[in-house]
Amino acid sequence: MMAKKMTRLGLIGAGGIAELALTSLVKALDAPLDHVAILVPADAAPQARVLLERCGPALAAATAVHSDLKALLADRPDVVAECAGHVAVRDYGATVLEAGCDLIVISIGSLADDAIRGRLEAAAKSGGGRLVLPAGAVGGIDALASARLSGLEEVIYTGRKPPKAWKGTPAEKLLDLDTLKDAAVFFEGSARDAAQTYPFNANVAATLAIAGIGLDATKVRLVADPGVTRNVHEFAVRSGCGDFSVRLEGRPSASNPKTSQLAGYSMARELINRVRRAIVMADSRVISAKDLDLLPWVPTQVRTLEEIRAEAERTAIEQALLRHCHRLTEVAAELGISRITLYRLMCRYGLRGDESGVPA
Ligand SMILES: NC(=O)c1ccc[n+]([C@@H]2O[C@H](COP(=O)([O-])OP(=O)(O)OC[C@H]3O[C@@H](n4cnc5c(N)ncnc54)[C@H](O)[C@@H]3O)[C@@H](O)[C@H]2O)c1
Repeated sequence: MMAKKMTRLGLIGAGGIAELALTSLVKALDAPLDHVAILVPADAAPQARVLLERCGPALAAATAVHSDLKALLADRPDVVAECAGHVAVRDYGATVLEAGCDLIVISIGSLADDAIRGRLEAAAKSGGGRLVLPAGAVGGIDALASARLSGLEEVIYTGRKPPKAWKGTPAEKLLDLDTLKDAAVFFEGSARDAAQTYPFNANVAATLAIAGIGLDATKVRLVADPGVTRNVHEFAVRSGCGDFSVRLEGRPSASNPKTSQLAGYSMARELINRVRRAIVMADSRVISAKDLDLLPWVPTQVRTLEEIRAEAERTAIEQALLRHCHRLTEVAAELGISRITLYRLMCRYGLRGDESGVPA
């Protein structure tokens, strides 16, 4: 199925992820989009306007901020990027897909709720919009999803963050996060349990579970570690086709320390690909340079006809020498020149490496 080129974008949320996604998009655009609209709660509308102003006219010919989903959809976005949280996926996701609009969900932890996931899948089917899940703050999803075809035996995810990043979660009741001296594992269980108990830290675990062995079989360990300053995501896989492990040390986003910057850039990449259509899906049966957004090749170095001829001559002699193991009589005969002319040309082009056949 062809992914439609994006010229009209809808965003839900205007926080850290939306900011990284839009500012990266501006850098990648050759020309502004037709329209960008942001949906946020009314009290966050000023934040959304500031973000759009910072992006400036390079982002879009027209912009809008809404606090009502109907208004966002009335702007006819080609794609809606959710950058807002689990509640937004629950409240808006199905309606966006039912409207036939593609929905990119970054709050993937919301899909650990079977009811929400089921509603979105049904809406995608009936409305025709596609549900797209970027890799977010983790990498190696391609390897995990491929290994799944060979049979996954075990997937263990460890999420390690500085103690202060776990504030506001049930970890506060299990550990003294202010005085912790050593790394402490405060949760061990399934990805489904992790998503229920730590919903705002469940995005990576849910991403791995959906791409891999499922919510119940994916094992999760959550760690508060005073020895780290970054959000560390590690997972280890045992599978029929081999074993591997992946470790990412994500820098937290400036505006939200709970969010790894990579999650924002992952959304940015998804949007940039849609603008450029740089995914390998062609309009016709043949993939063209246009589909891959490749410009025609234009040589940057200008050469004279004499230089081009000389290079062709040198290459022809070089190849004939190789073919005839530097037997000059045979090389000269093949090229239709005398041995003396051949020798002169070899001198000119510095091709006298093998002296054995060179005439005296
Ligand atoms: N997939 C991943 O790996 C990954 C990683 C980090 C964060 N996330 C998800 O991304 C979400 C956004 O992260 P962030 O750092 O940008 O958060 P943030 O708090 O900086 O920004 C959230 C934005 O969404 C808006 N918002 C909140 N609820 C809304 C609603 N119901 N409707 C419309 N707008 C709403 C807020 O006003 C704000 O503008 C997180 O909640 C998290 O679920 C995913």
